[in-house]
Order: sequence, then structure tokens, then C-alpha cells
Amino acid sequence: VTETIRVETPAAAYTVHVGRGLLDRMDELLDGLLPGARKAAVVYPPAVAGPAGRVAAALGRAGLAVHPLEIPDGEAAKRLDVLARLYERFAAIPMHRPDPVVVVGGGAATDAAGFAAATWLRGVPLVNVPTTVLGMVDAAVGGKTGIDLPQGKNLVGAFHQPVAVVEDLDTLSSLPGAELRSGLAEVVKAGLIAEPALGDRVAAGARASGLAAGGGGPVPVDWLGPHIAAAVRIKATVVAADEREASLREILNYGHTLGHALERLAGYEGLRHGEAVAIGMVFAARVAELAGVAAPGLASGHRELLTAVGLPTGGVAGDADTVLDAMATDKKARGAVRLVLLREPGSPVVLPAPDRALLVEALDAVRSPA
Ligand SMILES: NC(=O)c1ccc[n+]([C@@H]2O[C@H](COP(=O)([O-])OP(=O)(O)OC[C@H]3O[C@@H](n4cnc5c(N)ncnc54)[C@H](O)[C@@H]3O)[C@@H](O)[C@H]2O)c1
Repeated sequence: VTETIRVETPAAAYTVHVGRGLLDRMDELLDGLLPGARKAAVVYPPAVAGPAGRVAAALGRAGLAVHPLEIPDGEAAKRLDVLARLYERFAAIPMHRPDPVVVVGGGAATDAAGFAAATWLRGVPLVNVPTTVLGMVDAAVGGKTGIDLPQGKNLVGAFHQPVAVVEDLDTLSSLPGAELRSGLAEVVKAGLIAEPALGDRVAAGARASGLAAGGGGPVPVDWLGPHIAAAVRIKATVVAADEREASLREILNYGHTLGHALERLAGYEGLRHGEAVAIGMVFAARVAELAGVAAPGLASGHRELLTAVGLPTGGVAGDADTVLDAMATDKKARGAVRLVLLREPGSPVVLPAPDRALLVEALDAVRSPA
């Protein structure tokens, strides 16, 4: 069963399709959305060359001249030299204003190709075909695109909404279990900020499927669809209310303030985004308890949920000053640490400039490597 979710922002309105077997139906799903298009650039990393080929075939059936463009796997795609190569290829094709960039891949691919689409000829249509859970529930929806610089992650970017997002659950069957669990951290986060029952359902499903036990075996995609769709729906609602992160969109950052700091301190290696966010959510829950924002028990509830999904909830090393300084230099910190906290699951609140001693104490809750 395919679920369709509408995202309506001041800049654009589009549909996110979540289901199985969608790649071969791309021609039908994009019907009428690309007026005047004659060519399409299909941008993809090697890990998803197979799905990208199926997308290319479907676009060909729609009458487009398809140009496959390979980019590096993972974060290595979000580099200025990769972007420059994409522009050179767009120029050689040549890609005109109505011609879409269709990107197949994880969040790194959709961020990089999305930014290329946002800036080529001041913006051409973008179609996102995310192939990771994180891409499906987060990166491919909401219009943020960007690349990294040596000075920091996501420092250059643009808001550029896609014309459609096609999330084919079958593409997840090749995704390593650790990547899947990392993406589920964002699903649990969506539940915690807006729909507590979602986190409980994901945890129950993960327990039943043996996902938490780890291993690199086949990923159980069957039960994922409704959870992914639910998380997309939450993100769509938040983005519709605050496309440019002036207010409400900040709640999507739950767990990310410490999470980003941990990723930075790890040099973006060995700690996946979702794993860092999982630890960051336990930390935020402990801050909420200590600040009297939430009742005791919030952090242990988080631990139980995240452990069920096979995500880490601790293991933070390093002295408190180093960790807190890394939090304060986050690009979203606006000069001082701002933390999204929960009064209780489903009830987010922003705490600007939390007391440093309190943060140091809360760090104790994520020290032991649970
Ligand atoms: N724009 C946004 O709003 C937003 C939100 C969250 C994260 N992000 C960005 O997303 C990126 C992380 O995304 P991610 O977690 O999807 O990681 P990723 O894109 O790096 O993908 C992880 C790895 O899995 C491979 N892969 C992708 N799909 C696969 C599949 N189906 N089977 C096998 N391998 C596959 C990729 O090539 C890569 O090597 C970060 O750069 C982050 O900054 C952006």
C-alpha cells in the first residue's frame, strides 16, 4: 500500500510517496510535474547504481533523455569539487531550466545533488528518491540542501523544495542494519516530539524483528512503511508551519545539539548521525529532568526505547568542557547553547542558555557505554 503525504510550504507543494515497487512507476508518479522537461540528470552514488538504473529506465519511458551522473558514496559527495564536477556535467548535457535533477541515494546524495539543483541556472526542478531511512524521514523532505567545507559540515546550502519525493521501501533491502537503525533514531525522535505512540510502535517492531540484536543480515523492510510515513507526516507538518527554521522547525533538532557536537568530536567517523542523536536525546531528557521541566523517568524511558531499536544511549568520553564547547559552536546554537527539551513525550519546549553546571551534571547520564 502506497501512502502519500502532502508537504505544503509557502514556497512549494509536493507529494511524498511511501511504498514498495515505486521506482518502476516513476514515469506515472511524475506525470504532469515537469512541464517542458526534455532531459533529466540522474545523480547517484555507486551503492545504489541498481535502483538508479531503474529510475533512469522509468524516466526514459516518460520521454526524457536521461543522463546518469555518479557521485561518491556517503559524505564524500558533499564536497565543493564534486559540486563543480556536477556543474560541468550539467553544462555539457546541457541542462536547461525545465530539466530536472533526479537524485537517488542517502541524505548525503540528496543534500549534494539538491544543492546543485538549487543553484544550477538559479534553480531547476529536483526529484528526491531517498534510499536510506534517514533520507526518507528527514533529509529528502523539507527543502534543506547543502554541502560541507573543511571548516564545517553543511556550511553552504540553500532551501530548495523538491517537486516530488519517491520513497521505495524495496531500496532499503540492501541497506546495512547499522544504517537502518541510525535512521530509526530520527523516527523515534519524530515520535518523541510529536507522537509518542510512534516511538513505542517502532520499539515493539524492532524487538519483534530482532533488529536490536544487530548483525548485517537482511533488513526487515515490511514493518517499516507505516513508521516512515508517520515520521514524514510529522516533518511535513512542522516544515509547513516554519519552512525556514525561524521558530517551530527548531523542535526537529531534538537531541541534535549534543548529537552534532559528538559527531564533530568524532571527526564524522565511527559515529553515525542517528547514533549521535540517540545519545543526544537521552542527554536532553536528563537536562529536562534536572531543570525541572520534566518529571523524573523521562531519560530512562528514552533509554528503554532506544535500546530496543539497538541504538546507543551513552559512551560519551572526553572532559565536559570540550563537549560543552563543541555544543556551543554548533551553527544552530546562535552564540549560546539552545536546547530543545520535552516536558513529556509529545510536548517540546526550547530552553535558551541553560545553566552550565546543569549541563555538566546531565552529561553524567550519557557517560557509561549503554
Ligand atoms: N537536508 C536535511 O534536512 C538533512 C537532514 C538530516 C540529515 N541530512 C544529511 O544526510 C546525511 C546523512 O544521510 P544518510 O544517513 O542517509 O547517509 P549517507 O547518505 O551517507 O548514506 C550512508 C551510506 O549508505 C549508502 N547507501 C545509501 N542507500 C543505500 C542502500 N539502499 N543500500 C546500500 N547502501 C546505501 C550510501 O551510499 C552511503 O555510503 C548527512 O550528510 C546529513 O548532513 C540532511
